[in-house]
Amino acid sequence: MLDRFKREIYYLRISVIDRCNLRCTYCMPPEGIKLKEHKDILSFEEIEEVVKSAVKLGFYKFRLTGGEPLIRKGIIDLVKRLAKIDGVKTLSMTTNGTLLSQYAEELKKAGLSRLNISLDSLNEKRYSEITRGGNLLDALSGIKAAKDAGFENTKLNVVLVDGFNVDEKGKIKLFADKNKLKVRFIKKMDLKSGDYYGVEGGEGGNCSICNRLRLTADGKIKSCLFSDLEFDIRKEGIENAIVKAIENKPEKGYKSLKREMIQIGG
Ligand code: 5AD
Ligand code: SF4
Repeated sequence: MLDRFKREIYYLRISVIDRCNLRCTYCMPPEGIKLKEHKDILSFEEIEEVVKSAVKLGFYKFRLTGGEPLIRKGIIDLVKRLAKIDGVKTLSMTTNGTLLSQYAEELKKAGLSRLNISLDSLNEKRYSEITRGGNLLDALSGIKAAKDAGFENTKLNVVLVDGFNVDEKGKIKLFADKNKLKVRFIKKMDLKSGDYYGVEGGEGGNCSICNRLRLTADGKIKSCLFSDLEFDIRKEGIENAIVKAIENKPEKGYKSLKREMIQIGG
């Protein structure tokens, strides 16, 4: 479906959980966030219905995000259910990779198309610092597990933080080439002040060619990452919420004050 600015909207990013096993400094505030109650989190049935409605409206590209999607209980089952919906051309996942050693093979079998793995540093101490306690070795074994499971075109998401990891760009690029990963350098964004940038090696952050909507774990369709506009699928009905989100999609991003990145899924 076309929006007011003649952009074809066909990509839905689905946040399946508002929690994560890491606590990246650029993604969540140090004190954490107020977690949604269980009853507010969409069930698998509801997510399935959203994807079916989206397909009817012309969507064909889908991505699961979080928080960390792999800590949602039953995630493999959800992937299976969504991957077999007629009209779903690609179903990918953005993950921090730390649980992939456990899940990569099952994800592949369940029909997941591709993975984006976050990796901001190849230095153990820095990795632990930026993720507030994560273990680099878990992420690295996850990356290997993805390859062994047969995933291709895996992307590496690197958030560049001034004065922290920018000096590692070359090293990370080499690591990516060696492991057949496509690297995407993402300059750290700030929802509250409205600072966003185009993604080096990706499509995000370029408003004039934006093709996406987002579904939050608590059932709100967001028109734009940098806007507080959201439409509640439970209150407004799924199809209506999607159509309204497209019709009201702003020409470009402004700010998002209501939610933290972890509650949207990047
Ligand atoms: N700036 C840029 N990208 C971010 N992400 C999360 N927070 C930010 C931020 N402040 C993206 C990263 C990460 C994915 C889950 O979300 O790409 O890999
Ligand atoms: Fe978790 Fe990803 Fe946010 Fe880091 S960026 S805290 S890994 S959701």
